[in-house]
Amino acid sequence: MDAQHTAPVPPPGCPAHQVGGRVPLHGPGFAADPQAYYTYLRHYGPTAPVELAPGVEATLVTDYSTALQLLQDSGSFRKDARRWRELNEGRVSRDNPVAAVLSYRPNCMFSDGVEHLRLRQAITDSMGRVDSRRLARSTEQVSDYLVSQFGSRGSADLLGDYAKQLPLFVFNELFGCPADIGDRVLFGITGMFDGVNAERAAEVLYGAVGELVALKRAQPGEDVTSWLMQHEAKLNDEEMVHQLALLLAAGSEPLRNLIGNTLHRLLTHDAYAHKGGLIDEAIDDTLWENPPLQNLAPHYPASDMEFAGQKVQAGDLMLISFAAANTGPALAAARQAGSNRAHLAWSAGPHACPSKEPARQITVTAIENLFNRLPDVELSVPEDSLVWRPGPFNRGLATLPTRFTPFEPVRENAPRARAGASTSHDTTVAGHRREHSGKWSQFLNWLTR
Ligand code: HEM
Repeated sequence: MDAQHTAPVPPPGCPAHQVGGRVPLHGPGFAADPQAYYTYLRHYGPTAPVELAPGVEATLVTDYSTALQLLQDSGSFRKDARRWRELNEGRVSRDNPVAAVLSYRPNCMFSDGVEHLRLRQAITDSMGRVDSRRLARSTEQVSDYLVSQFGSRGSADLLGDYAKQLPLFVFNELFGCPADIGDRVLFGITGMFDGVNAERAAEVLYGAVGELVALKRAQPGEDVTSWLMQHEAKLNDEEMVHQLALLLAAGSEPLRNLIGNTLHRLLTHDAYAHKGGLIDEAIDDTLWENPPLQNLAPHYPASDMEFAGQKVQAGDLMLISFAAANTGPALAAARQAGSNRAHLAWSAGPHACPSKEPARQITVTAIENLFNRLPDVELSVPEDSLVWRPGPFNRGLATLPTRFTPFEPVRENAPRARAGASTSHDTTVAGHRREHSGKWSQFLNWLTR
């Protein structure tokens, strides 16, 4: 990594102590207070040297307009991770802890130019066919089902019991997963993100998605998987598997954190005391100040060049700090005066999130429905005891313990099976439990082993 940065001296008490001239974005210190790190990193200028995991170095763009400049210049900055020089030269090990997120896969996230356009168009067109009423209905049904699982307890961890599970159940429905495949998708994605036997979990996920592709080739239905394979991009089986796995992974983890971070905001900020009416506002404030993906958008300079006053070399790993860019002091006034949606939480440029509308709709519905069912829900622990998960990319709580007046669920509102969404299996959430409750609990035991 060749970027020439002059290290500023950390102010007394600053948590951002450097490791070999780089600021570590891993470990409990960063997880506890990332904004303190961003404040410090801004002293370097628009970009700063960071460490993503022991031995994995990167340049982080922390300034809003510099971030936009990089994200919109796809000629100078490429997404194909096979350009990552330090990995290619063996100076970063291939099994480093951030490899799962950064390593190349043949999907739209890691492609450039015409290939990117082709793969992305297949995703935007297929996701564009999702009917928003159907999405709202199935989110509501999944939400009802999850609440019915803990409603009589009078307490719940709204991360583990709700925000973490809801996106995956909704995706199973959206992608037309029959119960047995959906069960393994839940298992695979959860294991990968929790880092518990992550390699095995990834194998299970890719195996399950491969089966889903084979199934839908034989029996297409009214679901995103079938629409993706019918698209004029004519994706082959390998591309189908990688595009589907990308959708599941790129969707579930940030959605979980958008729901969790917004719930956290609603439960801890007095300004949202009347929760019902302010969900949209709380989501926007979360996207500005506590975005689910805080640092990502890995890019690699196509050639040696000067960027934002620093020399960068072809193949250097460069990341965007959406969280730092959104919260820069120069932006505060502009944010008040301008659009409340000009934040970078969905990224920008050709690789910006293609699914922000459905993601927002799932989030609004999930939170609205939860507050309708649990009108007096409140945090059950002091706010400062809440723990945030470590890691440089995501921003999300480990748990969100709450209490509320318990109620006896009237019925289990499970999503109904749709035509074309299933084989002979029962695809409802209730059916999923009936048929696979053994598997599901084995899965939970396995995860916590
Ligand atoms: C329905 C849920 C979601 C789906 C299916 C989805 C899907 C995707 C896909 C396929 C990409 C890659 C686009 C490309 O490379 O051209 C992407 C990128 C991105 N998404 Fe989403 N997403 C979802 C939810 C979210 C949420 C909740 C957030 C956070 C607010 C988010 C933020 C981003 C960002 C920042 C990127 C750019 C990442 C990068 O360049 O490294 N997404 N998303």
